[in-house]
Amino acid sequence: MKVIKINLSKNPYNIYIEQNLFKNISSRIKGLNLGNFAIILASRSVLAFYRKKIEKSFTNFPHRIIVLPDGERAKTKESLFRIIQEIIKTNKLDRKVFIVCIGGGTVGDVGGFAASIYKRGIPYVQVPTTLLSQIDASIGGKTAIDLKEAKNILGAFYQPKVVFIDPNFLNTLKKKQVKEGIAEAVKYAVIKNSAFFIFLLKNYREILSLKPSSILKVIDVCANIKAKIVEIDEVEKKSIRTILNFGHTFAHALEAASKYKKISHGEAVSLGMLYAAFLSNRVGLCSMNEICQIRDLLKKFELPVKYKYDFKTIYKAMSYDKKNVSGQFRLVLLESIGKVKVVGGISEGLISKTLKEFGAFI
Ligand SMILES: NC(=O)c1ccc[n+]([C@@H]2O[C@H](COP(=O)([O-])OP(=O)(O)OC[C@H]3O[C@@H](n4cnc5c(N)ncnc54)[C@H](O)[C@@H]3O)[C@@H](O)[C@H]2O)c1
Ligand SMILES: [Zn+2]
Repeated sequence: MKVIKINLSKNPYNIYIEQNLFKNISSRIKGLNLGNFAIILASRSVLAFYRKKIEKSFTNFPHRIIVLPDGERAKTKESLFRIIQEIIKTNKLDRKVFIVCIGGGTVGDVGGFAASIYKRGIPYVQVPTTLLSQIDASIGGKTAIDLKEAKNILGAFYQPKVVFIDPNFLNTLKKKQVKEGIAEAVKYAVIKNSAFFIFLLKNYREILSLKPSSILKVIDVCANIKAKIVEIDEVEKKSIRTILNFGHTFAHALEAASKYKKISHGEAVSLGMLYAAFLSNRVGLCSMNEICQIRDLLKKFELPVKYKYDFKTIYKAMSYDKKNVSGQFRLVLLESIGKVKVVGGISEGLISKTLKEFGAFI
């Protein structure tokens, strides 16, 4: 079993990674003394595949399962309040409650947020079941729900007590969902680890087909990178955690412009990373050759590298992005594969010029 320790001074915790780990989850949880009653949150699709498995794993542990809607609809205020009401009901019976989130990033985000606000904080456990949540969302304690005004607008930094990653869950994901996670894995390689970039290039077929040894390596490397970054910058006060946003300013603009319908987050991140690399080249950082290497890797993973967009709409959406400080942009730019830096003071003129040129390049 792989164990990654997140050494936070107040909230240290472990990430366990192993095939079939879920089988013994309740005895592992018992050992942590988090409470005597588990509120298990799981999305509809996860329960369709895994209800029996979950019930079997928790046979000897008092629990209640709450079904959440699939996707972003799990992150609404209605869903949050339903979880809180269930906890109140259970707590009345003099039980010491904690939350177990079994699902993708949406379940982890709403469950973590509920845990953070109920009586100013109860423990929670992350059991991520999508590739994206195994390598990213379940680690680091960012929790949130969406309001109609904006995504992730209500949230808190609140660390889980433990993260259990069982790659077996990935076998029931749709290929599209696997690729959502792969886009973020490519991001980790580009921002932090050039050897991992080469590993991805050499093993893309095995990764896409979820070969256990290859996918374990992907999860291990990415979870380690995320854990190290969170250790240094738990609440995103320094610029180090910002590098995780590589490609995301453009990606969020594309998603917003498509009203979160036409293009998925992973697809948008694929194009966003290319745009960030393109802009980096225009300000004299990375080479064209490096942009082409990233493009070729994304293509191997069947992620989009071409997209027709209206540059004015994207420019407007980028200007709304939270990383835009006082009329100037602050972006994560690429020096070379494996190395990025946060650059401020990027003018609106440069963004608008490069957006036009990039549209012609892709
Ligand atoms: N907290 C963070 O640091 C962080 C980081 C990145 C993303 N996020 C958030 O994560 C969310 C996206 O997460 P996601 O990509 O995991 O999507 P998701 O949670 O919406 O899951 C995608 C779909 O897959 C289903 N599913 C989950 N596991 C499955 C399995 N093993 N087999 C079959 N189906 C399964 C879900 O029910 C859902 O329908 C977004 O809301 C995003 O804001 C949070
Ligand atoms: Zn992302």
